[in-house]
Amino acid sequence: MFRKHLFINGKWIEAQNYSILKSPYTSEPIAEIPMATKEELDEAIGAAYAARKKMAKMPIHQRSAILEKLVAFLEERSEEAAKIIALEAAKPITTAREEVKRTIQTYKFAAGEATRIGGETISMDAAPGGENRLAYTVKEPLGVIGAITPFNFPMNLVAHKVGPAIAAGNTIVLKPASQTPISSFFIAELLQEAGLPDGAINVVTGSGSVIGDGIVMDDRVNMITFTGSPAVGIGIRSRAGLKRTTLELGSNAAVIIDEGIDKAKVVPRCVQGAFSNQGQVCISLQRVYVHENEYDDFVGKLIDETKKLKVGNPLDEDTNVSALISEKDVERTISWIQEAKDGGAIVATGGYSEGNALYPTVILNTDPNMQVSCQEVFAPIVIVNKVKSVKEAIEHVNNSRYGLQAGIYTNDIAQALDAADDLEVGGVIINDIPTFRVDHMPYGGVKESGTGKEGIKYAIEEMTEMKLVVINRN
Ligand code: SIN
Repeated sequence: MFRKHLFINGKWIEAQNYSILKSPYTSEPIAEIPMATKEELDEAIGAAYAARKKMAKMPIHQRSAILEKLVAFLEERSEEAAKIIALEAAKPITTAREEVKRTIQTYKFAAGEATRIGGETISMDAAPGGENRLAYTVKEPLGVIGAITPFNFPMNLVAHKVGPAIAAGNTIVLKPASQTPISSFFIAELLQEAGLPDGAINVVTGSGSVIGDGIVMDDRVNMITFTGSPAVGIGIRSRAGLKRTTLELGSNAAVIIDEGIDKAKVVPRCVQGAFSNQGQVCISLQRVYVHENEYDDFVGKLIDETKKLKVGNPLDEDTNVSALISEKDVERTISWIQEAKDGGAIVATGGYSEGNALYPTVILNTDPNMQVSCQEVFAPIVIVNKVKSVKEAIEHVNNSRYGLQAGIYTNDIAQALDAADDLEVGGVIINDIPTFRVDHMPYGGVKESGTGKEGIKYAIEEMTEMKLVVINRN
């Protein structure tokens, strides 16, 4: 077991208190992690605040070069990065390697987007009184960004906050999820080696009520960027005052399967969308609405494919599904499955756990009010229901508190375009699952799935303030 320290103002600082981080799969201790105090957080925010002018004045090519160096270091140490993710998050190692590849992409996009930050000129004489005025806008960094990140993509969802923040010339106070702090310490170490100035990134671990709330309530912090549960996100929004907030919250993402689609192509995608990373993905495929003419065949094939998944140790090369992040989540999901069974739903496969691993579970004939349908399950559970038409399926998809992404498979272009118009979500994915994401696309939800967009270019918009300059030529 090793001990990590707080990263404040470019230094590794011994904390007053530590807690033991355990593997979600074996429950064995991995490391000792700081539980920062209010005073230690205050030091970190102070460091970020003091460094903000230096970062804002740093030429864009330097910010971009730091991010490019980070990319190079990550490429060199990618296997080590994947093992950290697998160990602390119980993400199967092959999936963890994919996350590292995406993290590299995300920082590459950040390095590139930094060079494209700019404003526009305004035709002032379009309004009477604007003659002989020249005007342009610039994008200025906001200052200190408070980043609160989740356990499910401990490297790439940190990259989605840290990458655009640095690209835009901000400084950061990062609170990673309690279960997955090592990935963040690793990135801080690489950024320091890459030449990021002291204080530009500070990593503070500890409890949500001390560190999370402390960041949200501090006047020196200009923006909160958060990925996590709707309940916590809504709490942040209500306490953040006039701070900018980007909230990437949960969903119960759905796909619609129309008549006549190629099931040999679609079923493996659905299995991947539902069970990858144990379903702990905000756009994990949770609800499937299948046309009645395809339903029986689709369900049979889905069950067959699901049964092929290997459940086991995240460090084994052939593991597809491993432990949920905590025992509490296993208990919660088992009770939700039981509620569905009690209400008349059919558990077609899975529905049980071994240690903290929940077996990939397919549930049929659910009611929209069952928790496996209307809540975000964040577990390897997918429900499948029969519909008479795409129109009916759209109504089911929209009957949700959430609206992050939705997918539709159809050969009918008119149905696809109607779905694109009518689905109440942040992103409609035609002929693929809702779990599709590449890291430069705009990403963010409506309803209780959040506010604001990520995807580097869009996150930079959120992390900058437009300033207008008007020159009077008279
Ligand atoms: C998320 O869980 O919100 C992120 C999904 C992804 O980046 O693939």
